[in-house]
Amino acid sequence: MTRTAIVTGAARGISAATARRLAADGNAVAVLDLEAGQCAATVAAITDAGGRAIAVGANVADARAVTEAVAHVEAELGAPTILVNNAGIIRDNLLFKMTEDDWDSVLSVHLRGAFLMSRAVQAHQVAAGWGRIVNLSSTSALGNRGQANYAAAKAGMQGFTKTLAIELGRFGVTANAIAPGFIVTDMTRATAERVGVGFEDFIAQNAKEIPVGRAGYPEDIAAAASFFCSEEAGFVSGQVLYVAGGPRA
Ligand code: NAI
Repeated sequence: MTRTAIVTGAARGISAATARRLAADGNAVAVLDLEAGQCAATVAAITDAGGRAIAVGANVADARAVTEAVAHVEAELGAPTILVNNAGIIRDNLLFKMTEDDWDSVLSVHLRGAFLMSRAVQAHQVAAGWGRIVNLSSTSALGNRGQANYAAAKAGMQGFTKTLAIELGRFGVTANAIAPGFIVTDMTRATAERVGVGFEDFIAQNAKEIPVGRAGYPEDIAAAASFFCSEEAGFVSGQVLYVAGGPRA
């Protein structure tokens, strides 16, 4: 059966790989990012491979934009019953230098964004009696220097996920979180720049600390998302899966 999935932040990185993977799994995919134009490459990769996808522009922290985006997806691809809350930003700073804007913008995209998207999509999931929600947490949820805002948001994603699992389970909807470790994307490239290390050296430094001896790639996270969104994962809910090449960062 063809399902419709929405993957947020899917212009690039982990989310783009997840969108491609869910399309390869047979789902129609709404590739959502701030501007529809940013999603062209991800949509093309899916359609070139024979899949079905549309680009959707929306700020996930904007309630009105979210309502309109979900209605647009329903009209174009059918009611969405799979949601991956992946859109994210970092505004790293040590606590004494962290501004209110650093704090508010990070909590807004991750937590308010996941809340608004989940609230809009659950209506379709409950109506269908089936649904999958996957939220992106992080090993930073366990604490990470310079990321008080991000760590709070990513720990919050775990409590949010477990609560959705409890509330929505009776409607056939599961909710799970993935907590990636070090993944090679533009986000970690920006972190390397902030600490003044070349990206290749930064990747090598991080890989040394990872038990499997390598950095992670977006496809590693997409594979976990694919499992949580699958038919056979229906008895797995409220879980946090650390995908970090070892027990934790
Ligand atoms: P990325 O920075 O490469 O991509 C994030 C995407 O989200 C961008 O395309 C951006 O435009 C979009 N986005 C940002 N704000 C948005 C908003 N308000 N509305 C809609 N879209 C928005 O990031 P990456 O590395 O692919 O990360 C994806 C997710 O995985 C994030 O939630 C991140 O926090 C999480 N994560 C990443 C890790 C890593 O090592 N890269 C580790 C742990 C978690």
